[in-house]
Amino acid sequence: MHSKYSRLIKLSISAKSKSYSPYSKFKVGAALLTAGNKVYTGANIENASFSLCVCAERVVFSKAISEGEKKFKAIAISTGNSKPVFPCGACRQFMYEFCDDLDIIIVNSEKKFVITKLSELLPKGFNRKNLHGKK
Ligand code: THU
Repeated sequence: MHSKYSRLIKLSISAKSKSYSPYSKFKVGAALLTAGNKVYTGANIENASFSLCVCAERVVFSKAISEGEKKFKAIAISTGNSKPVFPCGACRQFMYEFCDDLDIIIVNSEKKFVITKLSELLPKGFNRKNLHGKK
């Protein structure tokens, strides 16, 4: 593993261990890099009322946004799956609220990774610019 995102990848793998996922047993860790090079980490949080489960991506963005962060460069997302697991549709939309684009590093159980972009996962997305005929 050698990448400018090595540290972010490692932090997402450690964050995975904090996952609260007693129902699915599917652990997800995320590490979010801000424009100011600060890193926030998060993991998925499940609930006995299943619809309240929150993905790692939304947890980490909520942590960062609520601390006043506004601009982001990249997010690394780790799972225990040997195949790449990409963010769910709801999380793509959630992230798009805060980033016109973002590098997304998908890390598998063997610490191998692929890099994609939010613009690739959510082309022609909907955001505030579409409201009220704004540009
Ligand atoms: N999960 C995430 O944390 N991120 C995703 O992008 C997909 C799914 C979580 C939600 C739930 O706790 C578990 O994985 C199974 O869906």
